[in-house]
Amino acid sequence: MPLPGLLALFGSQTGTAQDAAERLGREARRRRLGCRVQALDSYPLAKETPLTTCRWDDSRGPGKAWRMPTPRVQAPTGLLPVQRFWRFIFRKNLPATSLCRLDFAVLGLGDSSYPKFNFVAKKLHRRLLQLGGSALLPVGLADDQHELGPDAAIDAWLQALWEKVLGLHPVPLDLGVIPPGVPLPSTFTLRFLPETPGPNPEEQLAAAPGPRGPPSELQPFPAPMVSNQRVTGPSHFQDVRLIEFDIEGSGLRRGKPPLPCGFRSFAAGDVVLIRPENAASSVQRFCQLLGLDPDQHFTLQPREPGTPHPPGLPRPCSVRHLVSRYLDIASVPRRSFFELLACLSPHELEREKLLELSSAQGQEELLSYCMRPRRTTLEVLCDFPHSAGAIPPDYLLDLIPQIRPRAFSVASSVLVHPLRLQILVAVVQYRTRLREPRRGLCSSWLASLDPEQGPVEVPLWVRPGVLTFPEAPGTPVIMVGPGTGVAPFRAAVQERAAQGQTGNFLFFGCRQRDQDFYWEAEWKELEEKGCLHLFTAFSREQEHKVYVQHRLREHGALVWRLLDGQGASFYLAGNAKDMPVGVSEALTSIFQEDGGLSRPEAAAYLARLQQTLRFQAETWA
Ligand code: 2AM
Repeated sequence: MPLPGLLALFGSQTGTAQDAAERLGREARRRRLGCRVQALDSYPLAKETPLTTCRWDDSRGPGKAWRMPTPRVQAPTGLLPVQRFWRFIFRKNLPATSLCRLDFAVLGLGDSSYPKFNFVAKKLHRRLLQLGGSALLPVGLADDQHELGPDAAIDAWLQALWEKVLGLHPVPLDLGVIPPGVPLPSTFTLRFLPETPGPNPEEQLAAAPGPRGPPSELQPFPAPMVSNQRVTGPSHFQDVRLIEFDIEGSGLRRGKPPLPCGFRSFAAGDVVLIRPENAASSVQRFCQLLGLDPDQHFTLQPREPGTPHPPGLPRPCSVRHLVSRYLDIASVPRRSFFELLACLSPHELEREKLLELSSAQGQEELLSYCMRPRRTTLEVLCDFPHSAGAIPPDYLLDLIPQIRPRAFSVASSVLVHPLRLQILVAVVQYRTRLREPRRGLCSSWLASLDPEQGPVEVPLWVRPGVLTFPEAPGTPVIMVGPGTGVAPFRAAVQERAAQGQTGNFLFFGCRQRDQDFYWEAEWKELEEKGCLHLFTAFSREQEHKVYVQHRLREHGALVWRLLDGQGASFYLAGNAKDMPVGVSEALTSIFQEDGGLSRPEAAAYLARLQQTLRFQAETWA
């Protein structure tokens, strides 16, 4: 008899929803239920949908609301595909067979500090009901602000779900539930090859000259790094790099789609994606701990037919490639890592501790051991050496997630530099109570590459960003970009100046003119040519703080005239912490003082700008 099917769909920006959906998949397998776990963006929407369970993350929702402050590493990830699903499910003429009359349950992973807490989940729940579905549970509302994080609500929601689902599909008595301490079979079996294989045909293909598609996640373009230069002064607290790549032959170019086959258009506001590598010393330490030979090669066989080969892993693959380019050993492990490691551990004391850390009662301890101090997977493995040494290689891909690509705003225009692409990278480093400082994987890796010591290639691809600049000639733009937030505006100003657009108003903020004033000379030149109006806020050159929002208010009459009189668009990019709120408040004050609106009218005016995409924000944590 075929197993009853569950489908867990997730929309995930940070990986939390994916992790929760995968947990649902594992728990289903323990209960002998089939469960497909799939990202919404890869789900074939138009087909008939045997949907049983659907989950969602994020309280922010698609569309304009999502363009408001969104915590992310450097730039947006994965918004558009989820918007596609959203538009589809709200279609008036939705095909009768799709997504209708389902048994479903929705779990929202949100943050109650956002004004519309979990509104996507609530709205989706209502829509599925409207489509004739039957809700197995009330909508689950997990909250990042909860002291134990979203897990508290996820635990309760899953428990309630299983009660409901097992009522409908009891576990066959002869099979029974697989108890929590017993590992589920690994997704792949890993076969070591007795000797190093010859040149890898797939790698040869990638390196071969000749036509290839435009760069994509599956086939990134190996871009030679041309320069990697520190652009902050010696006494500035942060190392910020201006990195330039050579993109000749990549197929990336400026132009209106459709471009000829093999080319991809990109423009100011787009983002470049880079998947970093683990440091060689970390790879070595990991291999030592697990008793792996980095030079050995292996192939993977899926246990279940139809399981796709992990994207980007060559066949055969070396252990070194797997550990340096695939396994995310530098991020903070999730609870599921402790759960599986406990199952695999032969060491009684370590196993007990791991079980505790993965239990519902152990979540406060897990927070203080791992999440708060940002302890990495590799560091945890060092703390549990007997368990690490006993990890069967088959389980590596179940235990440790793939390294995520990081997104950076493109900081140069292809119109001006057709064969070059630049990014501005703040090298992330901070301290927690752990002895070793925490370092951002991608920014530290990029900073460590030195093209002056020899050729360096960085695989990359590009994707549309959140910011889109007006096509109509003559439309002025007001851009507010303190710190590295100025990067997308550097591309926009270059591009618009090259197109002869002169209405460029840039508000830039930094600490000190001689330490972190990026592109000072270039701005000056553009100002002299009449292509740019620059307003600067140096926060630490006087007693009190001066920020971009103060400069906006000083020039309130101009801002109002541009927005209300000349149909300007307003852009904001930078740190998501307090700056976006400060800028929004400055705008509302301007609308009152310079536009003569009442407070509610000013708020409505700002909301209208957002709705019509004349106010766009790209912010990151
Ligand atoms: P500060 O570090 O002196 O506080 C780029 O990081 C610039 O943004 C710096 O000058 C920084 O100032 C400033 N900044 C910090 N918090 C801000 C806020 N809430 N609004 C606007 N700018 C801010």
